Amino acid sequence: MTKQRTFSIIKPDATERNLTGKINAKFEEQGLRIVAQKRLRMSRLQAKEFYIVHKDRPFYDELVEYMVSGPVIVQVLEGENAMLKNREIMGATDPKKADKGTIRAEFGVDIGSNSVHGSDSLENAATEISFFFSGLEIVG
Ligand code: CMP
Repeated sequence: MTKQRTFSIIKPDATERNLTGKINAKFEEQGLRIVAQKRLRMSRLQAKEFYIVHKDRPFYDELVEYMVSGPVIVQVLEGENAMLKNREIMGATDPKKADKGTIRAEFGVDIGSNSVHGSDSLENAATEISFFFSGLEIVG
């Protein structure tokens, strides 16, 4: 199996509760390496653009407001099968439906404040990584 890279965001509900280290430990304990990471506050324009695929969904405005409500950690995770592996580690979008031991089951508050975002395909991972990082900022 080949090494992959995927994109992750630790969301405002998690940074607010000081959970960055606990969430990063889940990635590292399960074989993913954090090869780039920065803490930032997204602008409304960035959040709108980042989630543009959801622009026609009823929750779009709420999602954008939530993502700009506090600091986030944007990350690149690397490892074998990293995209799917990260989705397993995160658990289902709705914390109520997420498997025990996953980040969203353990830390998520509700479907909006669900602690983490992770790319849902390798193609989106590449787009999302380049949205926040230049090649020089990723050190594997
Ligand atoms: P994320 O993986 O960041 O991708 C889109 C986000 O929209 C999703 O996680 C959820 O946090 C958020 N969201 C808010 N409401 C809903 C909803 N009703 N259905 C799906 N996603 C939602």
